[in-house]
Amino acid sequence: MSSQEHPHAEFDVPPLTETIAPGTATDPDVKSAETTTLTVDGHEVTVPEGSTVLDAVEEVETDEYVPALCNYDREDIGPRSECRTCMVETNEGIVPSCSTPAEEGLEVSTDAEAASEARDVNLDLVLSDHNLRCTTCGKNGRCDLQDASIENDVEEPRYGVFDDRDAYEPIDDSSDFIQIDRNKCILCNRCVEACNDVQVEGVLRMEGHGQDTRIGFQNGAETMEGSTCVSCGHCVTVCPTGSLVEKGLEDAATLPIPGFNQKNSVGKVIESSDVEKGPMTPMKADQVTETSRETGGDAEERQWP
Ligand code: SF4
Ligand code: SF4
Ligand code: FES
Repeated sequence: MSSQEHPHAEFDVPPLTETIAPGTATDPDVKSAETTTLTVDGHEVTVPEGSTVLDAVEEVETDEYVPALCNYDREDIGPRSECRTCMVETNEGIVPSCSTPAEEGLEVSTDAEAASEARDVNLDLVLSDHNLRCTTCGKNGRCDLQDASIENDVEEPRYGVFDDRDAYEPIDDSSDFIQIDRNKCILCNRCVEACNDVQVEGVLRMEGHGQDTRIGFQNGAETMEGSTCVSCGHCVTVCPTGSLVEKGLEDAATLPIPGFNQKNSVGKVIESSDVEKGPMTPMKADQVTETSRETGGDAEERQWP
């Protein structure tokens, strides 16, 4: 091969030009080579620039357990600083570790009394608004809130738990694939971000204010059946509790007591109706393109709203 010849000339690869960028959409991000060094419970930790204090906390064996219920640790989802179960003390005060940047020289303490108490109080507050029927919950054994409560040795949450059957919202069982039990929702917002920012489906939203805040649907539907959900399941994957569960797994851990399951333990259920489902987001493969029409393609034409 002459020194002028391209090494891959035999594969007919077009040369890179200024208008063709190398790499593909699935390439990992190019991270900064810069690092930050801080201490966590006296241990020196070095993390990549742009990391959070929680990232540093997770690098070492900490003195105390730090839950992080609304954090999902994936790009595009969180942190939202909603649950405040991740509080730690630093030389700049008590902060939510999930959304505080790891700064050079920061001193972080997980066992400082005030931070530990803040985490405990906030975890108890989350539990006070949660239907704690773990034995019949489909997420029993794979629930972040349950894990945090066990790790934190919670025996009697100081504010009680949400245990008033008359006040429970009916379970939304109308979808063929996903069940919603808002009595177990901790309003972490993970599902809303997964649906809107990752799947770009625009189905879920937070609605209401104060104590009435709940997950709802952007098209104003009352049930999953009437929403524009395409049943991709991403919201279920990111939900830390039993609020969103896959159909078929909702009773996975039910105690073997005849007639006793998650639905009747809550009391009220909205079953699927015969009403026509709401407009679903069209799948690309189902859309008739101008090209296929022009070329007489045999793809079926559909009317999307
Ligand atoms: S399953 Fe439905 S609600 Fe959940 S992320 Fe997918 S489109 Fe959104
Ligand atoms: S349904 Fe699950 S993911 Fe969505 S806000 Fe509630 S707890 Fe979080
Ligand atoms: S994980 Fe930090 S506020 Fe929820």
